[in-house]
Amino acid sequence: MPHRLTLALTGASGMPYALALLKALVARQQQVYLLVSDAAREVLRLEHDIILPADRTAAEALLRDLSDDTEGRIRLLDPQEWTAAPASGSGAPRRMIICPCSMGTLAAVATGLSNNLIERAADVVIKEGHRLVIVPREMPFSTIHLQHMLTLAKLGVTVMPPCPGFYHRPTDIDGLVGFVVDRVLKQVGLEGDMTGWGT
Ligand SMILES: Cc1cc2nc3c(=O)[nH]c(=O)nc-3n(C[C@H](O)[C@H](O)[C@H](O)COP(=O)(O)O)c2cc1C
Repeated sequence: MPHRLTLALTGASGMPYALALLKALVARQQQVYLLVSDAAREVLRLEHDIILPADRTAAEALLRDLSDDTEGRIRLLDPQEWTAAPASGSGAPRRMIICPCSMGTLAAVATGLSNNLIERAADVVIKEGHRLVIVPREMPFSTIHLQHMLTLAKLGVTVMPPCPGFYHRPTDIDGLVGFVVDRVLKQVGLEGDMTGWGT
């Protein structure tokens, strides 16, 4: 099952990245196990006026609609759904992205807390030696944040704060978001939409 991937949205600013990423993953025929923290729901409301219904089926339908997911590729999981595939090394997809990643989730993953399915899924991906990409967002970073990022980088996790370049001369928010999403896609072995430097 090579096309499976876990995507976690946590409560940091940057939901435009998350939504664009979700859409791009669906467009690339990825089967997405989607995790959305409570704080991420709040940020989605503030940044996009998106209110995710408490009912999982309704929330999943809304997310599929937002992502042009006509084939049901997105599967929304509950943060306490310990029986879901990403919770175990035997069933977890080999790739996971946390975007955006809050400093709270960053700390929890760096210290192996595993108190919800996002943290547990990240812990599983790390212990199995699979691919974990995190997009941490805070400004400025404290030494606590930087220490956690260093810990994760030493474990082989790709830490990529959303820092778009400007050499492609973006003229709008989509241009900035697209740059970051392209880079994240490449980190999980997928092609982006933008032309690479020098190609
Ligand atoms: C609108 C809004 C924006 C936030 N932005 C950030 C942020 O950019 N980075 C961050 O680390 N926390 C941010 N927070 C705080 C986190 O949401 C909070 O620490 C939360 O406990 C994180 O929980 P989670 O990691 O389970 O999603 C924000 C909260 C809100 C409501």
